[in-house]
Amino acid sequence: MLMNQMETLTVNNPARRALQRWYETPLLMRLGGRTPGARVAEIGCGSGYGTKLILDKFGAARVDAVDLDPKMIGRARRRLARYAGRVRLAVGDACDLRAAFGSGDGAYEAVFDFGIIHHIPDWRESLAEVARVLAPGGRFFFEEVTAAALARPSYRALFDHPTRDRFTAGEFLAELPKQGLQAGERWATRIGGDYLLGVAHRADPQGEESRR
Ligand SMILES: C[S@@+](CC[C@H](N)C(=O)[O-])C[C@H]1O[C@@H](n2cnc3c(N)ncnc32)[C@H](O)[C@@H]1O
Repeated sequence: MLMNQMETLTVNNPARRALQRWYETPLLMRLGGRTPGARVAEIGCGSGYGTKLILDKFGAARVDAVDLDPKMIGRARRRLARYAGRVRLAVGDACDLRAAFGSGDGAYEAVFDFGIIHHIPDWRESLAEVARVLAPGGRFFFEEVTAAALARPSYRALFDHPTRDRFTAGEFLAELPKQGLQAGERWATRIGGDYLLGVAHRADPQGEESRR
């Protein structure tokens, strides 16, 4: 689901960028480390500021970044022009990275979700797609807005989100292993459970086998 005008303003401003750079990025790094030299996908990249952090701070070699909104991809193209050759941008659906980039199974060493899965009506399908495109042992970095936040009067008055089947932090974490993703203790909630940040890794069946 696309952002309305109010959310577009809220997301594309210096305060949000500062939060993403100085708070979310260090927390995600503490939980899951950096991604030097990695092939990475970012779902719901918006105006591309997260993509820039994935390249500059996490150290990824290349990023495939997708967003449903052509206007956001236009902004991202302008922001990321100097990274030509390291970034592919596409208008498309996070639930189908094959359509957006031709991404095969296990195509990426990491996938980033900066606050987008709560916009997707079938959020479980998007987790299944994250798991499909991650290589065994690959990491899924997530920052999500939970049902607790979406139920707040301020959120409901200002923003448009799917209204049915939203997830609590516990429901999101419980869904991960069903899709072959393991978070263990590498997650944290903020503001009484309104926000969930964490890192899960794609189960590695061969690694699991050899450890038995
Ligand atoms: C809250 S914004 C976050 C944008 C950016 N990640 C950030 O942190 O600034 C959510 C973004 O997800 C995009 N989006 C919503 N549903 C999507 C889908 N199914 N596939 C790809 N992008 C989607 C919206 O267009 C919007 O840019």
